[in-house]
Amino acid sequence: MKILVTGASSGIGAACALRLAKAGHRVVGVSRSGTAPEGVSGRVLDIREPEAVEARLQEIVEELSGLDALVNSAGVAVGGPLEDTPIHLVRAQLETNLFGATCLIRAAVPYLRNGSGGRLIHISSLAVAVPLPFQALYCAAHAGLNGLCEALRHELEPVGVRVTVVSPGSVRTGLTANRQTASAGVSYATAAGKALAANDRDEESGISAERIASAVEKALTARVPPERLDVAHWHEKASGPLRRVLPEWLFRRIIASHYGI
Ligand SMILES: NC(=O)c1ccc[n+]([C@@H]2O[C@H](COP(=O)([O-])OP(=O)(O)OC[C@H]3O[C@@H](n4cnc5c(N)ncnc54)[C@H](OP(=O)(O)O)[C@@H]3O)[C@@H](O)[C@H]2O)c1
Repeated sequence: MKILVTGASSGIGAACALRLAKAGHRVVGVSRSGTAPEGVSGRVLDIREPEAVEARLQEIVEELSGLDALVNSAGVAVGGPLEDTPIHLVRAQLETNLFGATCLIRAAVPYLRNGSGGRLIHISSLAVAVPLPFQALYCAAHAGLNGLCEALRHELEPVGVRVTVVSPGSVRTGLTANRQTASAGVSYATAAGKALAANDRDEESGISAERIASAVEKALTARVPPERLDVAHWHEKASGPLRRVLPEWLFRRIIASHYGI
C-alpha cells in the first residue's frame, strides 16, 4: 500500500510509519521537523497551514504514484485550567489536532477515493470517552475529530473509503514531555498540579507506541476494517463501558479521585 503517516517524527506516528515500512508498504511521513524512521521518506509539513498541506499532498501523491491510506497521528497536548490558558496555546491545541487534522483529511480524500479502496485511520484518544481534568482543550479537539470521522463515513463509504478511529489510552511517547502547560492561577493551582502529575504518571507507565502501530497495521490490512478500536491497558478500556452504566456524577467522582482532585 502507499501510505501517508502524519506525526511520523515521534511516538505513535513514528511507530506506525516504521512498522508499515518494515511490512513492505511504501510510506511517507510528515511532521514539522521532517524526520522519520528508517525506511520512511520524511517530509516537512506543518498541518496547521492549509495551503502547504494541499501542495505537499500533491507532491507526495506524485512521489508515491497514488495514495491508499492516511494515518493521521500528528498532534500536540495542552494542559492547564481553561481560564488561565493563553490564547496562543488555545490555538495551538485546536489548530493542530482539530483544524490541521481536518485540512489534512479534506486534502487527502480525493486521492483516497481514486484508489482501490482507500483507508483513513485517525489516531484519536480515550480522552473522548473519559474527560480528563485540566485537559479540556485536548478533550475538545479529539472529540471534534471523532465527530468529523463518524459523520464522514456517510460520505466516504459510498465512494470506497473506510474510516477507522483508533483510541489509545495512555501511551509512552514524547507527548508527555512536549505537553504545553498553562501556569494555573491560585484558584486551580493545587488541583491542576495534582491532575497533570497523575496524567504524566499514567502516560509514563502507559502501553508502548508499537501496540498502537500493530493495531493500525491490522486495521489497514483487514478486508473489512473496524470502525473503532480502543488500544489501552484493561482498566482504561473499562472506563467507557463503566461510564455508560454509572450515573454521570459518580463516574466524574471516580475520575476525579483517580487524578487526586
Ligand atoms: N501519548 C499518549 O498517551 C496518547 C494517548 C492518546 C492519544 N494520543 C494522540 O496520539 C497522537 C500522537 O501523539 P504521540 O503520543 O505520538 O505524541 P508525540 O510523540 O509528541 O508525537 C506527535 C507528533 O506530531 C507531530 N506534530 C505536532 N504538531 C504538528 C504540526 N503542526 N504539523 C505536523 N506535525 C505535527 C510531531 O512532530 P514535530 O514536532 O516534528 O512536528 C510528532 O511527530 C496525538 O494526537 C495524541 O493526542 C496520544
